[in-house]
Amino acid sequence: MSIVDGGIGATTRPQAPWTAAEVRQAVAELPRIPLAHLPTPLEELPRFSQRLGAGVRVFIKRDDCTGFALGGNKSRHNEFLFGEALEQGADVVVWGALVQSNNCRTTAATCAKLGLECRLYLSKWNQNTIVAGNLLLDHLFGAQVELVDAKIGPELNALMAAKAAELRNAGRSPYFWDPPQVVPLAAISYVLAIAELTEQLQARQLEASAIYVSSAGATGAGVALGAKALGFRGLVRLICPMHWPWHIPTRIADDANKAAERLGLPHRLSAAEIDADESYIAPGYGLVSPAAREAFQLLAREEAILTDHVYTAKALAALVADVRAGRYPPGSVVVFIHTGGIPAIFADGHQLLDDAVNPV
Ligand SMILES: Cc1ncc(COP(=O)(O)O)c(C=O)c1O
Repeated sequence: MSIVDGGIGATTRPQAPWTAAEVRQAVAELPRIPLAHLPTPLEELPRFSQRLGAGVRVFIKRDDCTGFALGGNKSRHNEFLFGEALEQGADVVVWGALVQSNNCRTTAATCAKLGLECRLYLSKWNQNTIVAGNLLLDHLFGAQVELVDAKIGPELNALMAAKAAELRNAGRSPYFWDPPQVVPLAAISYVLAIAELTEQLQARQLEASAIYVSSAGATGAGVALGAKALGFRGLVRLICPMHWPWHIPTRIADDANKAAERLGLPHRLSAAEIDADESYIAPGYGLVSPAAREAFQLLAREEAILTDHVYTAKALAALVADVRAGRYPPGSVVVFIHTGGIPAIFADGHQLLDDAVNPV
């Protein structure tokens, strides 16, 4: 995608870039609790880059090192979501996703830290329900976990809304995973992450040709908006981990624009500007493709950095494929935002092994 002016308001107001300091000032108006260890490091991957053989310099933004409860992108999200939850006087949190959800693990941990009751509704849909990885951590952080048949997406969201309504009727104050409310707010944390990345690149006098991140939701909305707001001139490649029953670019642009409104940013995105690539999902959500396995192994064996099989190895596989295909000229800089997710490999990471050593 090229970062061009467009979308709502574009005809009436020029969308001049904001500085990182201006973005930070706008974000400072929102309630927020400190969770993540920030800024996360920006590291070069010399051995990995060399193995790709195209003369491209690959950098990694280490959001796997956000620290809180084993790190990942959700530590950034929850700073804002729980800032809002506390401001609203919440005493119980209703959250849900799939069994190995990093989102739910981080939320269980956030609730533990804040003394909030945590109720997790985890969809069993095609999932391994072994108490390991993120599911083990949910229990260790003291969440009340219920495994449900509801499919992730509209069905599970309706279940969570119903549980929240029951709690409200019983006199409680629930904060729950209500996508139109929470996704734009979570996205704001990634507008800030792009401000952080912009300053790190500027400090090294680097200009990136592309950013890669695993997302079909809040993180991608924030990265796309942050890139537009800060005047990033390269590509923003959102590599989707799963299909959703809606048009992903439209939803992401919508969430990004809601986040922009909330921040008072003049910048807006249209669906046509969102490069959400669904071609790396196969063979399915949480199932490893040969390309993802190879990307995982390259990063682990050349740089001693782990990715996960559900999200980040697939986004890295897209980067590897694009670099090898000559999409960027030699000397270009490409940034991979590592959004974490490592705990899941302790539940079903055997897929990342070569067939010769794979016990399954
Ligand atoms: C490790 C990891 N990366 C990326 C994502 C995608 O984030 P988002 O839902 O904000 O698009 C997730 C979501 O669960 C995740 O756990």
